[in-house]
Amino acid sequence: MEQEILINKKNYNILVIGAGHVGLVTAACFAELGHNVICVDNDRQKIKHLNKLKLPFYEPQLDRLVIKNFKKRLFFSSSLEKNIKEAEIIFIAVGTPPLPDGSADLTSIENIATIIASNLNSYKLIVEKSTVPVHTGKKIKETITKYKKNDLAFDVASNPEFLREGKAIYDFFNPDRIVIGVETKCAEKILKNIYAPFKAPIVVTNINTAELIKHASNSFLATKISFINAISKICDLCGANVKKVADALGLDKRIGKSFLDAGVGYGGFCFPKDLEAFIYISKKLGYDFALLKEVKRINEEQKLYFVEKIKEKLWVLKNKKIAILGLSFKPQTDDMRFAPSIDIIGAFLSEGSIIKAYDPKAIGQAKKIFSKKDNIYFATNPYDAVKNCDCLCLLTEWEEFKNLDFKKIKKLMNTALIADGRNFLDKEKLQKIGFDYIGLGV
Ligand code: UGA
Repeated sequence: MEQEILINKKNYNILVIGAGHVGLVTAACFAELGHNVICVDNDRQKIKHLNKLKLPFYEPQLDRLVIKNFKKRLFFSSSLEKNIKEAEIIFIAVGTPPLPDGSADLTSIENIATIIASNLNSYKLIVEKSTVPVHTGKKIKETITKYKKNDLAFDVASNPEFLREGKAIYDFFNPDRIVIGVETKCAEKILKNIYAPFKAPIVVTNINTAELIKHASNSFLATKISFINAISKICDLCGANVKKVADALGLDKRIGKSFLDAGVGYGGFCFPKDLEAFIYISKKLGYDFALLKEVKRINEEQKLYFVEKIKEKLWVLKNKKIAILGLSFKPQTDDMRFAPSIDIIGAFLSEGSIIKAYDPKAIGQAKKIFSKKDNIYFATNPYDAVKNCDCLCLLTEWEEFKNLDFKKIKKLMNTALIADGRNFLDKEKLQKIGFDYIGLGV
């Protein structure tokens, strides 16, 4: 009966658990679609800030959606139990950080499953939104069944999110596909109702397959990046140009243009951790995913290769001043998690270099990562960063770095050397100004 009512609804009482990148974006976007959404997080400070409309991270357009829907259809709370009782659909969007062995830490998910079990007061659809290893849905179902104190029905589903940081709102409303992993017609119908306003194809499958699609997607994208980074090295060795290789490769529709930008490698909280988790779960299932181990190795090697190229030019790195432009793992975000800049700066610091760093958004996060004892100084603008430096290293392709006054920069620097870790700047223009230019495969 309860299920029948839910099947015929358009707008739902949705609970989103976790106010991280996936959770907060999902909550704000569902509210924008007209649902009544409560987003909970056990970090009380975060909820306190959200209730004052202070967002925990930078994501373009997110503030606009939160402000627009706040206290109309979007609410923030730290009390999970009460809100479970009022919810019809529960999206789990909590973190699944990597453990030392590479596996995903599912402690939070298990804990939430037990709390849902003891607060199950009506039929609910429980949806995994976080990236989780295959079989997590099965475990959530077993856990709720084990701990619930009544005969009430519930469904578990998997609905992986494919949004990119920095473009998350756009991606939410313009998905390439929507993946729904379900076990019952009721769960399928409810999720299809939620996604009815979208034009994207909906892939309906079982839970295991939906979970696997997410890991397979991220691993494939990371593979494309490592592939082109390996090609960039061959280009350096034989005098070819990786940008042209990538352009021509991408024109083949079977390959596609995206994710073929060579550079200092991928970072962020998704690819590195998801690859580790996928390698781990594959091994557990009986398959040695050697291809992904190599993808990971190439990614690590690329950062050191970049530092080596700079070392070749500067000879001794000790006491050399290095300007770092761009700290976040990619533009349009202040996220520093697994950013290539961390390892690259680390390599310079261990050689005794002095770092002057600038990023339009990520300095606050970077300050939490590097210790006060490190020889790293944060600049207020790019020109301040490059002053008296021996090398300018570009590590994140923020659009504003493209239009810097490089003639002025040349005058400010000690040595006119630019190492472009994203093959982003105009090499010929810089060489004309008089810069020595290092790229990756260009
Ligand atoms: C990635 C996926 O793209 C999303 O589809 C997915 O939902 C998300 O992970 C997730 O699992 O939550 P994200 O980590 O936000 O999104 O960032 P991407 O835009 O994919 O970039 C990842 C890294 O790859 C960045 O460090 C970027 O600089 C690097 N990259 C990307 C390259 O080095 N070359 C490229 O050609 C593309």
